[in-house]
Amino acid sequence: MREFVYYSKTAPTSGSFIGEDLMKAGRLDIAIHTIIAAFFLSHSFRNDVKLHLVFEGPPTPPRHLELKPVTEGETNVDKIYLNKKNISDIIKKMLYKYKEGEKKEIFPGYFIERKSFLQVIKDLEKEGKEIYLLDKDGEDIRSITFSDNPVFVLGDHQGIPNLKKEFKRIKHKLVSIGKKTYFASQTVAIVNNEVDRQEESQ
Ligand SMILES: C[S@@+](CC[C@H](N)C(=O)[O-])C[C@H]1O[C@@H](n2cnc3c(N)ncnc32)[C@H](O)[C@@H]1O
Repeated sequence: MREFVYYSKTAPTSGSFIGEDLMKAGRLDIAIHTIIAAFFLSHSFRNDVKLHLVFEGPPTPPRHLELKPVTEGETNVDKIYLNKKNISDIIKKMLYKYKEGEKKEIFPGYFIERKSFLQVIKDLEKEGKEIYLLDKDGEDIRSITFSDNPVFVLGDHQGIPNLKKEFKRIKHKLVSIGKKTYFASQTVAIVNNEVDRQEESQ
């Protein structure tokens, strides 16, 4: 299982802050493109990905949304139908149904709780996972042999500038997918492909 942690300083933490224009909703559009890149394949859905979204925008940051969608069983009973058009509605509902003090499963495999970005990473580190911070100045992704359960961390359009110092206390590796700066969603698609290729060659 590979995991991604996506951090956004601006993405909204209440459903009421999400209107029609997702670019104006704390750049929720970027998170949605990232979800598509994380899970969707042509005519297929990935079961080997868990995605953590950490939103730290207004009005009540932080929120940790953990997505490992259930794909087996009856739709609307055991699982929900996720498509490219309904992702913002799902996020909105998750934010609305958040309950203080709980890690709440809103839909099968879709959880929400109050947890900061650094705490999410620290908890994954405690579980023994290898943390890879995606950064264009890092080590070339093609020279790395990934652990079995890698965790890839990335930011939105603003990146994760103010937290780089905090990262010094977390065991991690800086990983680059090239010298250009890619969209968050493009980065996830490229990392998924690199991990696929590494797994296929084993
Ligand atoms: C649009 S970029 C952020 C740009 C932001 N201005 C910055 O400098 O961090 C979104 C995220 O994609 C990842 N990313 C983009 N290009 C990358 C590259 N060449 N190698 C590794 N990660 C990259 C980084 O994690 C970044 O936070």
